[in-house]
Amino acid sequence: MARPLSVGLAGLGTVGAGVLSLLRANADVVAARAGRPVAVTAVSARDRGRDRGVPLAGLRWYDDPVALAADPAVDVVVELIGGAEGPARALVEASIAAGKPVVTANKALIAVHGAALAAAAEAAGVTLAFEAAVAGGIPVIKALREGLAANRISRIAGILNGTCNYILTTMRERGREFADVLADAQRLGYAEADPAFDIDGVDAAHKLAILAALAFGRPVDFPAVHIEGIRRISALDIAFAGALGYRIKLLGIATRTERGIKARVHPAMVPDSAPIALVEGVFNAVVMDADFAGRVMLEGRGAGAGPTASAVVADLIDLARGRATPVWGAAPGALAPLDSLPMAAHSGAFYLRLMVVDRPGVIADVTAVLRDAGVSLESMLQRGRSPGEAVPVVLTTHETSEAAMQSALGRIAALPTVLEPPTMIRIEPG
Ligand SMILES: NC(=O)c1ccc[n+]([C@@H]2O[C@H](COP(=O)([O-])OP(=O)(O)OC[C@H]3O[C@@H](n4cnc5c(N)ncnc54)[C@H](OP(=O)(O)O)[C@@H]3O)[C@@H](O)[C@H]2O)c1
Repeated sequence: MARPLSVGLAGLGTVGAGVLSLLRANADVVAARAGRPVAVTAVSARDRGRDRGVPLAGLRWYDDPVALAADPAVDVVVELIGGAEGPARALVEASIAAGKPVVTANKALIAVHGAALAAAAEAAGVTLAFEAAVAGGIPVIKALREGLAANRISRIAGILNGTCNYILTTMRERGREFADVLADAQRLGYAEADPAFDIDGVDAAHKLAILAALAFGRPVDFPAVHIEGIRRISALDIAFAGALGYRIKLLGIATRTERGIKARVHPAMVPDSAPIALVEGVFNAVVMDADFAGRVMLEGRGAGAGPTASAVVADLIDLARGRATPVWGAAPGALAPLDSLPMAAHSGAFYLRLMVVDRPGVIADVTAVLRDAGVSLESMLQRGRSPGEAVPVVLTTHETSEAAMQSALGRIAALPTVLEPPTMIRIEPG
């Protein structure tokens, strides 16, 4: 058999240890598919003394991960440290400069610096692979960049953050509030001690920016992604959504229009019969609309040691075989300079929940504001009566522009009979 592919592995946390375990457990399968053994020979992490549940004896250890790029016995660098800046970025840049291919699971790095890193990799003639950066074990990068390469993609929508999906699923199943479920998720290890990146939608936005670049063949544009998280979703809204035949999901949606690309991450109400509505718990899913292939949906585990290691090692097998695709599917000069459209350019249907004083005339004031803004109502729901006190009123609209809805929301919030800032959730087809 040919010489092993020698891997330098930076980061021995959840994913790094998962890669070492997978390469031990599946060494025969990996070698057969790669055409040669794939062997980690050098590693880097911060704490040399920590037990990582995998043997490290015989592997060269570097305190400074960037040193892996200069190790002449390392063929490929795998970056599993994380973060858009700092040692992860320094290592990837140094590896490309040294002419070494890189495999990374780092969505923040690829979303923020992916255009420059791809240009550097292509100039140096090396591969930059990142299957693990989006949706963990789901091979969505390969599906978009290779499997669907013959198609024009018009829309891509996904559940891209398992922590948020777990929280929303548990809130719905148990009728519990966001803060309680988040605290449980942290205890169970489904949410980070600092969960902001997940629950505020930033992690999903990193992944959506990467998917949109691949789907539409344009440079990655993370700052253009509109981002809202799930902190404001209440058990009450989830119950109302259920009564109306919807489930609430944090979706990342990118659409190609004649005027440019819209990319947005926000909570969305999807019909409870839509396949994506049934993707529950920590699972992720991606739905792609392709002109010749039609709709393709992939579902699976978006995180965790095993699924993420599966994606990292798939990239290593490609490298061992010498299979290479341009980072964004086409050479940088062949990418389309499509404009990014602002959220104000969006239009769709909306769910509104207001807490109003239970008094005659209040609903008429609200509907007058909507009428004046050109927003047409589809349905209205009011449960329970308690004269003089706060009661929830739920409205859904027909398709209307985001700009009209935002202007109506501002005026509704200012009505003296509306007691809390209104909750607005966009309704999506799924
Ligand atoms: N966890 C997942 O399920 C998942 C899924 C998809 C993608 N990812 C991505 O995979 C990457 C790794 O995630 P993870 O969950 O495995 O992270 P993690 O458990 O926090 O592990 C990070 C590793 O990086 C090492 N490290 C940090 N700073 C370093 C430095 N300055 N020099 C050398 N090593 C350093 C740490 O060393 P010590 O162990 O010594 O502290 C640790 O081993 C991230 O980009 C993440 O977004 C993770």
